[in-house]
Amino acid sequence: MQPIISISGVSKTYASGFSALKKIDLDIRRGEIFALLGPNGAGKTTLISIVCGIVNRSSGTVTVDGHDIGTAYRAARGLIGLVPQELTLDAFETVRATVNYSRGLFGKPANPAFVEKVLRDLSLWEKRDAKAITLSGGMKRRLMIAKALSHEPRVLFLDEPTAGVDVELRQDMWAMVRRLREDGVTIILTTHYIEEAQAMADRVGVINHGEIILVEDKDELMRKLGRKRLELELREPLGAVPAPLAGYGLELAADGGRLVYTYDDQSERPGVASLLRDLGAAGIEFRDLATNASTLEEIFVGLVREKA
Ligand SMILES: Nc1ncnc2c1ncn2[C@@H]1O[C@H](COP(=O)(O)OP(=O)(O)OP(=O)(O)O)[C@@H](O)[C@H]1O
Ligand SMILES: [Mg+2]
Repeated sequence: MQPIISISGVSKTYASGFSALKKIDLDIRRGEIFALLGPNGAGKTTLISIVCGIVNRSSGTVTVDGHDIGTAYRAARGLIGLVPQELTLDAFETVRATVNYSRGLFGKPANPAFVEKVLRDLSLWEKRDAKAITLSGGMKRRLMIAKALSHEPRVLFLDEPTAGVDVELRQDMWAMVRRLREDGVTIILTTHYIEEAQAMADRVGVINHGEIILVEDKDELMRKLGRKRLELELREPLGAVPAPLAGYGLELAADGGRLVYTYDDQSERPGVASLLRDLGAAGIEFRDLATNASTLEEIFVGLVREKA
C-alpha cells in the first residue's frame, strides 16, 4: 500500500546556518500510530512543521496521500490536523466557536453534529460555551486537539501531546488517540517519553541531531530498550569471573572490584535473583548493588555507535 506520508531527502538549514535536518527519508504507513522519539533540539518539530507547510524545507520532497506539499499544498494540508507543541488559542473565544472557526478556515461547511461529537469525545462538551481563557491547562490542550480535528483530517500530528499533562489526562489522551486510529486516522506523535511510545505506537522512529537513526516496530525496539544493568561492588576483588558464573556473560572491571550484568526482560539470560543465588553459592560477597535501566540517552549513544 502507498504510504500516507512520504518524506524523501528532506533537509533544513535555518537562516542562522544551523542544519536542523539532514536528508530525512521516512514513510508513514496508512492507519498507523507512529511515535517520533528524540531529545530536545533533535528536529522533531522542524520535521512536523515542514510536512504541515509551516517551515520551508531547504531540499527534498514530501507527499501527503500522493499530494506534493510543494505543488499541491492545499490538498495536502487539508488532510492534516496539527496539534502544535505550543498552545495557540484565542483567549476570548468560546470552545465551540474555536472549533467552528478552525473548520471554516479549511473551507468545510458547518457541521454542528460533528463538532459536538469531537467535543464530547474530548470531554469538552460541558465547556462548550466557556471562553478558552477560563479553561485549565489540560482542557486547553484538549481544545487544541479538538481544533486540529475540526476539519476531519486523515492524518493527525501531535507534537508532544502530553508534555506537562497529569497521568490521568495522559491516559485519556492515549485512549482518544487509539479511538481515532480505529476511525482510520493516521497518527504521528512526538515525545521524549519511552513509556508513551510503548503505550501507543505501532512503530517508533528515533531522531537525533537532525538524522533518523532508527525506525522500527515498537515491539522490537522495546526489546532493545528493555536492557538493564546490575552493578555489584565486590567485597574482595576477583582475578577472573568464576567458572560456575560463566553463563551470565558478566563483565569484570579492570581492578576486579566490580561485576556488571546486562540483561533484558525478554532475553534467555537468567534473572537477577538467579545470579544473586549463584554468587552466594560461589562465595562471592558484595558491598553494594545498583540497577539501572538504559536511559534514552544511552540508547542513542549505543545506536549511533552501532551505525558508525
Ligand atoms: N527558527 C529557527 N531558527 C534557527 N534555528 C532553529 C529554529 N527553529 C528551530 N531551530 C533549531 O533547530 C533544532 C531543532 O529544533 P526542533 O524544534 O525541531 O527540535 P525538537 O526535536 O522539536 O525539540 P524539543 O524536543 O525541544 O521540542 C534546534 O537546535 C533548534 O534550536
Ligand atoms: Mg519540538
